[in-house]
Amino acid sequence: MLLDVPDKCGGVDESANIFLLLVIKSSPSNYERRQVLRQTWAKERLHNGVWIRRIFISATMDTGFQKRRLNKLLKVEQRQYNDILQWDFTDSFFNLTLKQILFLEWMDRNCPHTRFLFNGDDDVFAHTGNMVEYLQSLTDNDGSKHLFTGHLIQGVGPIRIPESKYFVPIQVEESDSFPPYLGGGGFLLSGYTASVIYKMSHTITILPIDDVYMGMCLAKAGLGPESHGGVRTAGLFYPNHPPDKIDEYDPCLYRDILLVHRFLPASMYLMWQILHDPDLDCAPQNK
Ligand SMILES: *[C@@H]1O[C@H](CO)[C@@H](O)[C@H](O)[C@H]1NC(C)=O
Repeated sequence: MLLDVPDKCGGVDESANIFLLLVIKSSPSNYERRQVLRQTWAKERLHNGVWIRRIFISATMDTGFQKRRLNKLLKVEQRQYNDILQWDFTDSFFNLTLKQILFLEWMDRNCPHTRFLFNGDDDVFAHTGNMVEYLQSLTDNDGSKHLFTGHLIQGVGPIRIPESKYFVPIQVEESDSFPPYLGGGGFLLSGYTASVIYKMSHTITILPIDDVYMGMCLAKAGLGPESHGGVRTAGLFYPNHPPDKIDEYDPCLYRDILLVHRFLPASMYLMWQILHDPDLDCAPQNK
């Protein structure tokens, strides 16, 4: 481990005071994304009486001088914000499972009683206020029950085309079908479910596709994912509106969602500001 924030949750016992921990996958070079998230949806704050905290999970990039420069950047950011976990391995798509498992191990050690987690990418728009309100509305809202909800993917299996980004050779995964899982762009889980996945990860060989791997861990524990209609990792889609008649950045479309995939830093900043404008006026049909 290169960078750690062992007291992020205030210690093992105090970690119960954190209602939602935002765990954001971020490569060292994504400085602009981290900066805008710190000012927008990932701001550490009290919302509706409960605490939201933020952590970026990162590894290393490049080699030589460039690698050292990027490590230095994270170190400087850490000094100011105290919100980065960094491990010394190559930050790449096929190493994301490793990142996830290392995070769960860290969580088990430092924040075991944290109620809920948001796990996602640094280029999504996450409506963290809505997430808190949704989680508070559950009957079991202390994080001690199973919860794993987001964009559900099922009935798919490994892609055997070597040119694909998601190529999984038969030597790595024999089975032709994956268990149901949640798209890795962003999902919510309880502290309980995080610990179940961590325990199961000791018994399952790593599959280098992180979101599928978490589905495999859950399946082995006899648990499953659940679909949440507010998580739009595939973007917004309104079947009753022709695409040219709909402004995909209309803030009124974002009031009730939990997450939308792919936002550039400037759009993220603007959307967050507009959504929190007390004068935002949305006609009922836009809901
Ligand atoms: C994962 O990280 C290790 C350690 O840095 C590196 O050797 C390996 O090439 C990386 N794997 C991929 C697929 O990038």
